[in-house]
Amino acid sequence: MFALRIYVLFLLLQCMLTAKSGKNSRKHLNDEARLLMTLKRILHSSPNEVRPVHNSSKALHVTFGLALSTIHGMEEISTTESKLTASVVFFYTWSDYRLQWKPENFSGIDSLAMPVDMIWRPDIILFNNMETAMQQDMHTQAIVSSRGHVIWITRGQLTVIAEKETASWWSDGQWEAEFKFGSWSYGESRIALDFYDGRQSMDLSSFRSKSFSVNKNHATKNVKYSLCCQEPSIDLTFNMTLLQL
Ligand SMILES: *[C@@H]1O[C@H](CO)[C@@H](O)[C@H](O)[C@H]1NC(C)=O
Ligand SMILES: *[C@@H]1O[C@H](CO)[C@@H](O)[C@H](O)[C@H]1NC(C)=O
Ligand SMILES: *[C@@H]1O[C@H](CO)[C@@H](O)[C@H](O)[C@H]1NC(C)=O
Repeated sequence: MFALRIYVLFLLLQCMLTAKSGKNSRKHLNDEARLLMTLKRILHSSPNEVRPVHNSSKALHVTFGLALSTIHGMEEISTTESKLTASVVFFYTWSDYRLQWKPENFSGIDSLAMPVDMIWRPDIILFNNMETAMQQDMHTQAIVSSRGHVIWITRGQLTVIAEKETASWWSDGQWEAEFKFGSWSYGESRIALDFYDGRQSMDLSSFRSKSFSVNKNHATKNVKYSLCCQEPSIDLTFNMTLLQL
């Protein structure tokens, strides 16, 4: 009888606890929704097509990084060239002064996942893509901090020409490929582009392939004047060599 009473008490306590935590999580959800609505309202009051800087004469700092996931295809075009298709993960960071809030007003929430198509995004493209548009998943969320710092990690596919280096007696030959990224419409004074996390190479920590291994992997930042524009433009170029296994 005593044991039964203890058991009933235990059940009751458990019920109360779940009810409490349920209420808490609902409250938390409401705060997230309230925060999202607040940010949406702020975003609606200014155009999303212009760079999110207070002063238009200032550059917006954007960082960009690349992780190689896998090699999808290596299609021969000629004896020296192949069409290389790679799955990658893109890393972006920037700041948007409009996306700021006081965490204490939203029960301590200090970061929020937001659909990336709701916010401004840097127009970084792969200049030497073989296809007209770079394939990038736009249905991912960006993580926004209460100080307006945005991190966006998404995935996509890149297609470039890889050049075959002639085989020698010690190897079957290898491919050299280059991925040149930059802002499509902004020069150095508008978008100050740099490497994500200061990393001057592709991240290979999640690279899986049964057919290829990466031999060399290095990236450079280039600032160049081109015919079109008065101000220099920045590109981040990732070079790698692939060895057939
Ligand atoms: C914007 O920045 C430029 C260059 O730093 C400065 O000369 C100008 O006064 C600033 N404008 C405003 C409105 O703060
Ligand atoms: C946010 O919280 C502060 C106090 O922490 C308060 O003074 C302010 O009015 C609040 N702002 C909004 C928009 O609720
Ligand atoms: C990167 O690759 C391109 C083309 O394969 C080559 O012209 C360039 O010199 C390479 N850059 C570096 C730093 O290796």
